[in-house]
Amino acid sequence: MTANECNIMNPEVQKQVSKYVKMYSRKGAVAYVHSFGCQLNVSDGEKIKGILASLEFDFTDDYKNADLILLNTCAVRESAEDTVYGTLGNIKKYKKENPGVILILCGCMAQEPKTIEKIKKHYPFVDILFGTSALSQLPKLLLEHYEGKKLAFDTKEYKEEFGASYQIRESSFKASVPIMFGCNNFCTYCIVPYVRGRERSRNAEVIIQEVKELVKNGYKEIMLLGQNVNSYGNDLPDGMSFSELLRELNKIEGDFWIRFMSSHPKDAGKDLLDAILECDKVGKHLHLPVQCGSNSVLKRMNRNYTAEKYKEIVNYLRERSEGFALSSDIMVGFPNETEEEFEDTLKLVEEVKFDNIFTFIYSKRSGTKAAEMEDITTDAEKRIRMDRLLKLQRNVATENYKRFIGTVVRVLVEGESKQGEGWLFGKSSAYTIVEFKGDKSFIGTFVDVKITDARNWAVSGELV
Ligand code: 5AD
Ligand code: SF4
Repeated sequence: MTANECNIMNPEVQKQVSKYVKMYSRKGAVAYVHSFGCQLNVSDGEKIKGILASLEFDFTDDYKNADLILLNTCAVRESAEDTVYGTLGNIKKYKKENPGVILILCGCMAQEPKTIEKIKKHYPFVDILFGTSALSQLPKLLLEHYEGKKLAFDTKEYKEEFGASYQIRESSFKASVPIMFGCNNFCTYCIVPYVRGRERSRNAEVIIQEVKELVKNGYKEIMLLGQNVNSYGNDLPDGMSFSELLRELNKIEGDFWIRFMSSHPKDAGKDLLDAILECDKVGKHLHLPVQCGSNSVLKRMNRNYTAEKYKEIVNYLRERSEGFALSSDIMVGFPNETEEEFEDTLKLVEEVKFDNIFTFIYSKRSGTKAAEMEDITTDAEKRIRMDRLLKLQRNVATENYKRFIGTVVRVLVEGESKQGEGWLFGKSSAYTIVEFKGDKSFIGTFVDVKITDARNWAVSGELV
């Protein structure tokens, strides 16, 4: 048991909080927990649910039934922050009608000093606020709130590892396992290093044990998470590297897949690429955010690689595994991006032939270096560029997915598809969405599907 787990289970705090929960909740304590943003946030949200369950809370999907509302926020783009403020605006009325309801804000936004100021000034009905590494302080903050503190908050950086034993997982067959927290890269547009702190890797033995336990409990997909998983272990005195960790996890007995995200091209060395290619349980897919195809923009972004280096990585994988799947994050409209620089991105997208891309229009984040850069490109130009990029990618993906037609792929079935009655969907080893007709009892298991059709975002076929 880690120091933090002891802290959560501090029987005295727990007893007092549980007493207050019973006293002030209307009808058995019910909590609404909503995580915005990336998978690391979702994983934190699952741990928060675990803490709340230990304090005798049950859960609801509708905040209008809740005694406690917790918003686990994302700060990566302005639109994410606007969504949170919009949600707070909606909750305001419910909170006014039900003053006993506890409203909590946590996650990346809560770590920013400007948010604390804004909350105090414009959203005084928020009761508790805590930062990205202060999850374990939730019981203590609840106690402070019950004892009358107006805004209980804690945004200190806690170094101790917060264990997964509390996690209430959403899925019974897909599990995410954070392997490291924070980021040291300081890409000039990105707020993450400021809100999630420096890189901290979790102990390899603990991770391996956690994965063994998950596999024993029937989990079929293990997603390893970190802002930059390739630099896993660099901060540990005798740490395993990420590729060594992959190889160790691959030795665990059982029928399951290992995936991971995100990777940074500057750290995607041969050892990592070989580990992906050689480990049979590691999905044959790499999510490798390139951000853009222009070397001058990559330099302004402080990405520390070139488009040529990126293509070398892609070629290395494709030469050894035909049709190896790649996905990426691409940003349009970085400050002063010229037409030529943008066209370099289009060229790269055309050449690399990504299976899938996640696209973003640059969003200014105060406190980052890029926020100080001059930007004469208009929003309208940025939107036009985004449309051009999306149009190109739709064509690339449709062509790309045709390579699967006629092949039989193994699929982890995830759920019912919107395609129609009796249709299911899942993902292949290459992380392609696969749709097919089948019985709901297949959900959570592996099946083989023969691919007969390809669209720009998925393939479909028949159960073998
Ligand atoms: N504006 C737009 N997109 C951003 N991302 C990170 N910061 C910003 C920003 N300021 C994107 C990057 C990253 C993904 C998770 O979010 O593409 O890879
Ligand atoms: Fe942000 Fe760059 Fe770190 Fe990714 S690698 S979290 S984009 S600073």
